[in-house]
Amino acid sequence: MLKSVKKQTMPLKGEIVIPSDKSVSHRAVMFSSIANGNCIVRNFSSGADCHSTLNLFKALGVDIQFLDEKTLKIHSSGKLIPKKTIYSNNIYSCGNSGTTMRLVSGILARQNFDSVLTGDESLSKRPMKRIIEPLTLMGAEISSVNGHAPLSIKGRKLHGITYPSKLASAQVKSCILLAGLGADGETTFTEPSLSRNHTELMLEYLGADIKAEGNSVTIRPSELTARDIDIVGDISSAAFFIVVGLIVKGSDFVIKNVGLNPTRSGIIDVVTRMGGDIEILNKRTVSGEDVGDIRVRYTENLRGCTIEGDDIPRLIDELPVIAVLASQADGETIVKDAGDLRNKESDRISCLAKELTKIGVDIKEAEDGFIVNGKTKLQGGAEMESYHDHRLAMSFYVAGLVCEKEIAINGFEWTKISFPEFEELFSKLSL
Ligand code: S3P
Repeated sequence: MLKSVKKQTMPLKGEIVIPSDKSVSHRAVMFSSIANGNCIVRNFSSGADCHSTLNLFKALGVDIQFLDEKTLKIHSSGKLIPKKTIYSNNIYSCGNSGTTMRLVSGILARQNFDSVLTGDESLSKRPMKRIIEPLTLMGAEISSVNGHAPLSIKGRKLHGITYPSKLASAQVKSCILLAGLGADGETTFTEPSLSRNHTELMLEYLGADIKAEGNSVTIRPSELTARDIDIVGDISSAAFFIVVGLIVKGSDFVIKNVGLNPTRSGIIDVVTRMGGDIEILNKRTVSGEDVGDIRVRYTENLRGCTIEGDDIPRLIDELPVIAVLASQADGETIVKDAGDLRNKESDRISCLAKELTKIGVDIKEAEDGFIVNGKTKLQGGAEMESYHDHRLAMSFYVAGLVCEKEIAINGFEWTKISFPEFEELFSKLSL
C-alpha cells in the first residue's frame, strides 16, 4: 500500500492514549501459558506480532479466550500439550515476529515433544545462531538452515549454564531464562549492557526463583503461578509521537499511559540531551512496570548529541525515528555501537540511510550506526520504501510531516505489526 504524507502546517494538540506494549504483551501470553492457573490479561496488543504469539500458544493447547478486543482470559495447567490435527505436525508459525521465535525456542527446547518454528520471508532471514548456540550448551537439539528459520527443535531435558553473552539482547536473554526456568540447576546470563528487563520483572511477579544484579541475572528451576496482568502503553510506539510533537511547529500534546521502564526509556534521556521540551506527568507503577504521561511541545532549538554504549539497548527500536529527529536538530547526531540494527526487520542502518537521503536528510551510514547532520529543510517529493519494516514505515511518515513536498511510503500496511492504531491516533491530534 502506497501512503501519501503531506507537510503538517497546523500544530498538533490534545491528548492520546498510547496502545499496549508489544514486548510486555508477548511475555504476558507466553508466561501465563506456562503458569499454573487462571488469569486475566488486560490491554493486550492489537499488533500482528503479539497475535502470532497468541495463536502459537493456542495451538500448544493453552485455553486463551478474548473477553473483549483487548482482554484475554488464559487458563493453563502450566504444561503445554500440542493440539493434534492431521495438518499440524507440531509446526508453529511465528509470522514476522523475532520475539516470538527467539523466546518460544527457549520454552520448546525443554518440552517432552518435538516442534518446528517457521517465520515469514523477513523473519527467515534473521539470525538465530544467537539463541541456538547457548541453547545447545544447555543440551538442546536444534537444527536450522545455516542459523536461520525454520528451526526444528527436539524436546529434551536441559541443564543450567553460565553464559556471558557478547550481545546485549533481551530476546537472547529471555530465551535462555525461559529454558533455565525448566532446566536442571542454575542458569546465569550476563550481557555487556543491560537490555530490557520485562522478562525478569514478569517472571518474578509470577513467582519464579530469579535474581538480577547489574548486567547479570540468575534463574533456578521453578513453577509459575498465574496472576492478572495489566499491560502498559508502548514507549516504542509513543516515540513516533514524541518526535512529531518536537518537530511540528506549535505542537503541544499529552501522550498518556506510556511505559517508562528505565531499560526502555533511553529516548526520554536523548530528547532531554537534545534540548527537547518534554515533561513526565503522573508517574505510577502497573503490574511491576513504571508508567507515566508525557507532555511534549514543539522545540525550535534542538541540538545533536552522541548516542552510544549503554544507551543503545535502551532505545534500539527508536533509532530510526531518532534519525528523523536529528535531521531537525542543529549539528551532528552520532549513533555508535548499534551494529545489531542491521539484523532487525530490515537492515535498519543501510535502509534508513538510503531512504532518508532521498528526501534530503544529511545522513551517513557507518558500520555500527549513522551520523546525521542538521538542521535541514527537507525537500521530500520522493517515494520511500519501507522494506516491510513497521518502524521504518512510521519513521518515514513522521519525516513526511516536515517535508516541503508530499512523500509516498511504500508498504505502509506493515505498521500493523506493532501499531495498527498509528494513523487513527495521529488524526486525533490534528482535529
Ligand atoms: C525485544 C528486544 C529487542 C527489540 C525487539 C523486542 C523484546 O530485540 O529490538 O523489538 O521484546 O525482547 P533484541 O533482543 O534482538 O535487541
